[in-house]
Amino acid sequence: MEIWLLRLIALTTAAAVTTVAAQSSLPAGCDDQYCGDLKVPYPFGMTDECAFEDKTFINCSKSGDDYTPYLMKGGTLVVKNISLDGEMEIMTYVAKNCYSQNGMQTVRNKPRLWLVDLFTISDTKNKLFAIGCDTYAIIEGSRGKNNYTTGCFSSCQEDDSLTEPCSGVGCCQVSLPRQLVNIKLTLSSFYNHTYVWDFNPCSYAFVVKDGEFNFSDTSFEKLNKTEKLPMVINWSIGNVSCEVARKFENYSCKANSECVSGVRSGYLCQCLPGYEGNPYHPHGCTDIDECKVKPDACINGTCINIPGDFSCSCHEGYTPENKTTCKPKPNREGGSSRALLLIIPLCVSIGLLALLVSSLMMLWGMKKRKLIKLKEKFFEQNGGIMLQQRLSNHRSGSLDTTKIFTLDELNMATNNFHQTRILGEGGYGTVYKGELMDNKLPVAIKKSKVGAKTQSEQFINEVIVLMQINHRNVVKLLGCCLETEVPILVYEFISNGTLFERIHDVGEEVSPLSWELRLKIAAEAADALAYLHYQTSTPIVHRDVKTANILLDNSYTAKVSDFGASRLIPLDQEHQMQTFVQGTFGYLDPEYMQSSQLTEKSDVYSFGVVLAELLTSRKTLSLDRPESDRNLANCFLSAMRENRLLDVLDVDIVNDGNLKAIEEVAILATRCLRVKGEERPTMKEVAMELEGLRITEKHPWREADLCPEETEYLLGSSFDPFSIDINGGETSSTTDYNSMQHRMMNNSYGDGR
Ligand SMILES: *[C@@H]1O[C@H](CO)[C@@H](O)[C@H](O)[C@H]1NC(C)=O
Ligand SMILES: *[C@@H]1O[C@H](CO)[C@@H](O)[C@H](O)[C@H]1NC(C)=O
Ligand SMILES: *[C@@H]1O[C@H](CO)[C@@H](O)[C@H](O)[C@H]1NC(C)=O
Ligand SMILES: *[C@@H]1O[C@H](CO)[C@@H](O)[C@H](O)[C@H]1NC(C)=O
Ligand SMILES: *[C@@H]1O[C@H](CO)[C@@H](O)[C@H](O)[C@H]1NC(C)=O
Ligand SMILES: *[C@@H]1O[C@H](CO)[C@@H](O)[C@H](O)[C@H]1NC(C)=O
Ligand SMILES: *[C@@H]1O[C@H](CO)[C@@H](O)[C@H](O)[C@H]1NC(C)=O
Ligand SMILES: *[C@@H]1O[C@H](CO)[C@@H](O)[C@H](O)[C@H]1NC(C)=O
Ligand SMILES: *[C@@H]1O[C@H](CO)[C@@H](O)[C@H](O)[C@H]1NC(C)=O
Ligand SMILES: *[C@@H]1O[C@H](CO)[C@@H](O)[C@H](O)[C@H]1NC(C)=O
Ligand SMILES: *[C@@H]1O[C@H](CO)[C@@H](O)[C@H](O)[C@H]1NC(C)=O
Repeated sequence: MEIWLLRLIALTTAAAVTTVAAQSSLPAGCDDQYCGDLKVPYPFGMTDECAFEDKTFINCSKSGDDYTPYLMKGGTLVVKNISLDGEMEIMTYVAKNCYSQNGMQTVRNKPRLWLVDLFTISDTKNKLFAIGCDTYAIIEGSRGKNNYTTGCFSSCQEDDSLTEPCSGVGCCQVSLPRQLVNIKLTLSSFYNHTYVWDFNPCSYAFVVKDGEFNFSDTSFEKLNKTEKLPMVINWSIGNVSCEVARKFENYSCKANSECVSGVRSGYLCQCLPGYEGNPYHPHGCTDIDECKVKPDACINGTCINIPGDFSCSCHEGYTPENKTTCKPKPNREGGSSRALLLIIPLCVSIGLLALLVSSLMMLWGMKKRKLIKLKEKFFEQNGGIMLQQRLSNHRSGSLDTTKIFTLDELNMATNNFHQTRILGEGGYGTVYKGELMDNKLPVAIKKSKVGAKTQSEQFINEVIVLMQINHRNVVKLLGCCLETEVPILVYEFISNGTLFERIHDVGEEVSPLSWELRLKIAAEAADALAYLHYQTSTPIVHRDVKTANILLDNSYTAKVSDFGASRLIPLDQEHQMQTFVQGTFGYLDPEYMQSSQLTEKSDVYSFGVVLAELLTSRKTLSLDRPESDRNLANCFLSAMRENRLLDVLDVDIVNDGNLKAIEEVAILATRCLRVKGEERPTMKEVAMELEGLRITEKHPWREADLCPEETEYLLGSSFDPFSIDINGGETSSTTDYNSMQHRMMNNSYGDGR
């Protein structure tokens, strides 16, 4: 009988593991606890003796014949399922807003969820949904010191069919930022359901476990009767790392288990491979009897269970082929000489060794080939061939710099996408800072989340759009990598963050942005947008103009970024196109939202919001203000109507700016924010007006000393902002960059911080 080498190895490792001493058992009554249908395994417990700590206490409350398990003492969260791998399901409230026919709110709740240390909301197992025909939902949450906001909006008409997929018609969904601990759901509506009241008086929003909610035409009705839905949270124990916990008396990972770090500060225990059971239980994990579980585990051999594994003992006349298979022994004649008896085992072991080495090498080779194949598949899927063609067709001028990167290059540039390289993240994915190996150029690398199917298309879009642009106020695309499931984009790095941060993250060290710089940034951004609308071969509508998408370099030069949602508008379509409504709430053109007709004027509206933000230094969405004041555009417009501009202006710019120019910009913003697109100025007009204001600001002219030459100068050379060298006179100085790209996904909006 021959014993397979692996068995020996398995035996020795198993022996090492089982030396961990088995400890006493749990206090009486703590095994097999149930609260109604819920199994409560240790470290959870329904009494102080049974629970490992306060945070794993389950308050099983009985009323009549029903049992309700609450998480923690005095807790109100109802537990639906506890899984020992570190997840559990809890029931959380559905947010509801209902309106009467005349637009008055009749029902409203604002669910919040606070989790103590050791619990986090799973981002991989949950989704945020908003349901309704005049609905948007915003989720705010925190992780560490940072706050994160994301959300989505949904609209529909009476005759829309309401079915899966959930993509903006009656239903929208968005994934959550990583590892939030506190969340607040806010549900709102654009027109108080007055246009859709007949068929949809209520909006709903909730975070729910994947697969627990399917959208259909009965969802409105069902949700009206649903109070709570299940959500998945991650748990861990101890509030210390594995290293620290191991030193404590109360270290919880018992025999045949190992410690893994939890998502927050605590740790988790896991059974070793080949073992099952409860790793927290004093008895530890028990061996899996593979021979019982898989009766035919061995082919032409007898299965022998060993701790953590199994081995096959070959039947008489068979010899091992591999771990699970025995093959007939080759017939050997005359093999009775002593020499042969010595040589055979030698040959066999050498042969085996050779086999092992060669199969390892083969395995390695296969793995490598598989990886290469996968990379090739993604490359093709992502439109790599098309892009290569385009690049080679364009091998002149601006596209010389666009490059297709390999994954290895980017791994090297970002230290394998290391956490410390993250510049920003949100619902859209993550932006990393990298440094190219060949020229040490800092770059911003945008890696989108895996998921939405539209991403690949959006990506190609962004590449093609950006490939056509070369403007000093548009962030430059350096290249892309197509070898991953979701393509990765590489941009120039813009060093000074986003305009959004520069306006809103003002503190002790950072002084407010001066009026002069605000005007300069506005003029430059307007110029870039006008260029996109009128100077490119096909007009480009940016579709996601916002301060978070205007980046700043060291000299406060504005760089418009994020073209993921942009659309090329073919000239023969009269500059109108029916599209999925897409953009960022708070900046989104209400006309476009209603009609889905996309025109350049939608960007003008969004730019109007940017101007209002520059004037007031307020965020576009202030959830802590009264409802009528939440939306910056509305708030700004009503202030202008009521002649209260000074009330909403940022005091700092009033102090250092020229009030006349500020008023002019405010009036311009008002015109951009007109409800009817056709009444708004074009981006070209906006850019010219801002440029004009900048110049007058630089040359403050009092009528008395206005000399004719200067007037000539003012009107002559600088009034056409389109005389910029299109092929970028700036290419040599483009080394300092930074970017916090905010990528909007279908009908969603996000805010990285
Ligand atoms: C485990 O032991 C450590 C150190 O003795 C102590 O700080 C901690 O509170 C204990 N945890 C529990 C749940 O008893
Ligand atoms: C358990 O929950 C019930 C019902 O909410 C409550 O009355 C009771 O005080 C709780 N017990 C503990 C120990 O928290
Ligand atoms: C609880 O979760 C486990 C593992 O995720 C699953 O197998 C089990 O069916 C769930 N139980 C209930 C009642 O949902
Ligand atoms: C916990 O959360 C992380 C990220 O939020 C997730 O990837 C993981 O699957 C969750 N579950 C467990 C058991 O760790
Ligand atoms: C919508 O409802 C809110 C709250 O009831 C109210 O303050 C607001 O004026 C309403 N708006 C419209 C357009 O009816
Ligand atoms: C996050 O939000 C909380 C509550 O809304 C607020 O108190 C806190 O200041 C915010 N933190 C940051 C960094 O903005
Ligand atoms: C939703 O649909 C999926 C797949 O069709 C199904 O597995 C799941 O059970 C459904 N969930 C509910 C709550 O109906
Ligand atoms: C849903 O419930 C609310 C009150 O809870 C009610 O006003 C509304 O008419 C109900 N029906 C529908 C279809 O939403
Ligand atoms: C967990 O540890 C962190 C940091 O070590 C501490 O701030 C926090 O208060 C602890 N939480 C509990 C519940 O002990
Ligand atoms: C066992 O060995 C015999 C040859 O002796 C072979 O015919 C048979 O297929 C083997 N069984 C399996 C399951 O491979
Ligand atoms: C062992 O060898 C048999 C026959 O060559 C093959 O079918 C089986 O997949 C192999 N098993 C493993 C685990 O390699």
